[in-house]
Amino acid sequence: MTSVNIAARKGGTPIVALTAYHAHTAAILDRFVDFILVGDSLGMVMHGLKTTIPVTLDMMILQGLAVMRGASRALVVVDLPFGSYEESPAVAFRSAARVLKETGCGAVKLEGGARMSETIRFLVDRGIPVMAHIGLTPQSVNTMGGYKVQGRDDDGAVEIIADAKAVASAGAFAVVVEGVVEPLAKEITTSISIPTIGIGASSDCDGQILVLEDMLGLSPDIPKFVKRYGQLAEHIGSAVEAYADDVRGRRFPDKDHVYRNRS
Ligand code: KIV
Repeated sequence: MTSVNIAARKGGTPIVALTAYHAHTAAILDRFVDFILVGDSLGMVMHGLKTTIPVTLDMMILQGLAVMRGASRALVVVDLPFGSYEESPAVAFRSAARVLKETGCGAVKLEGGARMSETIRFLVDRGIPVMAHIGLTPQSVNTMGGYKVQGRDDDGAVEIIADAKAVASAGAFAVVVEGVVEPLAKEITTSISIPTIGIGASSDCDGQILVLEDMLGLSPDIPKFVKRYGQLAEHIGSAVEAYADDVRGRRFPDKDHVYRNRS
């Protein structure tokens, strides 16, 4: 899958996406999803950080490489982390070029609407496919005053629609719409020519994305919009408990799990 394939899915069969940060989960997802996002949510999920702000470009590249080793079919998109692109289009180009060259992924994602449109155009004109991210943009948590649903009032909604139009006309191939009220997500989807990928948005978006560990039931705290499709925390707990019991009771390793001399 390429960014061009994803862009062509506007209005068609919904686009399926999940995050992944490592090779084995990427290999599983690869069979079922259209694109895999190496999200900067890895700061919270893998490192237990409170926000995505401390995530670095090196962290994204390391996990991007791991995901690329697991994925063979799905498009892999890697997030540009906070501080690696906002300063200027040239800075953004250097960061995005590093991500593409060092991971081999097919696209980058960055947060921001109209304010990032010049940068998006600069990158796209230089061969870097860009997925935009508008609405609730977690890297702006400090200016938003928390993780709040966006577009509840008319002014906010007008601004987010303008953001969607700006990133589409700047050349983004798709846009993540996060944490906005449902009617607004629908309006955005019908107002622009590129696919909208919803997270906490609406089933009317052209596709959906969730954080893998949230939908698998591994993350301890999840937002309202996440549906749990698995109970991995319980599963892991039971398996580890059984292993600990077996080791303490000298039932593991048993005869099937040791090496013997060849006779
Ligand atoms: O970092 C991330 O995982 C994301 C998704 C939640 C869209 O940006």
